[in-house]
Amino acid sequence: MRIECLFAPGEIDESAVKGKTVALIDILRACTTAAYAMAGGCERIIPVATVEAATNLAASLDKKVTLLGGEREGKRIDGFDLGNSPLEYTSDVVKRKTIILATTNGTRTISMSQGAEEILIASFVNMRSVIDYVAGLNEDLVSVVCAGQDDRFALEDAVCAGMLIERLCADREVDLSDGARAARLLYGQNEKSIPSLLHDCEHGKYLDGLGFGKDLEACSRVDSLRVLPIVKEGRINKVKRAKRK
Ligand code: MLT
Repeated sequence: MRIECLFAPGEIDESAVKGKTVALIDILRACTTAAYAMAGGCERIIPVATVEAATNLAASLDKKVTLLGGEREGKRIDGFDLGNSPLEYTSDVVKRKTIILATTNGTRTISMSQGAEEILIASFVNMRSVIDYVAGLNEDLVSVVCAGQDDRFALEDAVCAGMLIERLCADREVDLSDGARAARLLYGQNEKSIPSLLHDCEHGKYLDGLGFGKDLEACSRVDSLRVLPIVKEGRINKVKRAKRK
């Protein structure tokens, strides 16, 4: 298996994603939030790139079972039901609901990866499920795509990419691109300090300043949720229970 790692959406090109399995990472907070929403029992998540796309889509769906979620500059969008805090997506709020999710980097990067065969939503909280699923694939190439921050490198995404790569290297022959090797090295330097990394990284500090400090802890709970949101044809329809090896 060959693994490539892209650190920001600007690196996405057809060869990296078209027809491929993509593991997409936005630790703070879109991918973590999607994992919490699936664990909370939502029916589906429809990720969209813009606020306008979200409100237009919501207007065409049944209001009783639809929630609009997302953020701009980290804050809940005016008129939306939910922000982008994973802790908001509890079972009593999201169970059996369709969630339309619009976030600045995460769902935009999902839209930019749409040529992929499937997009696995990866984060620290559901890493074990991602690994189990990828391990069962018969694929030559897996692309790990980091959403980054405003089209730039984000350390927390790169370290999570490195965790995924490190675990995949544990029991199989893997050919790594230079980016994948770099991510693995970054993980090696940070593996024992994921919670403090999330507090110290740029976006973590920003979220803390907005009063979302508790989200950082929620995003750092490695292997805490047994869910795997998978985007196929633009939506996440169900939780896939990971195949055990
Ligand atoms: C994003 O997609 O940019 C984010 O998840 C931002 C955030 O809510 O922290």
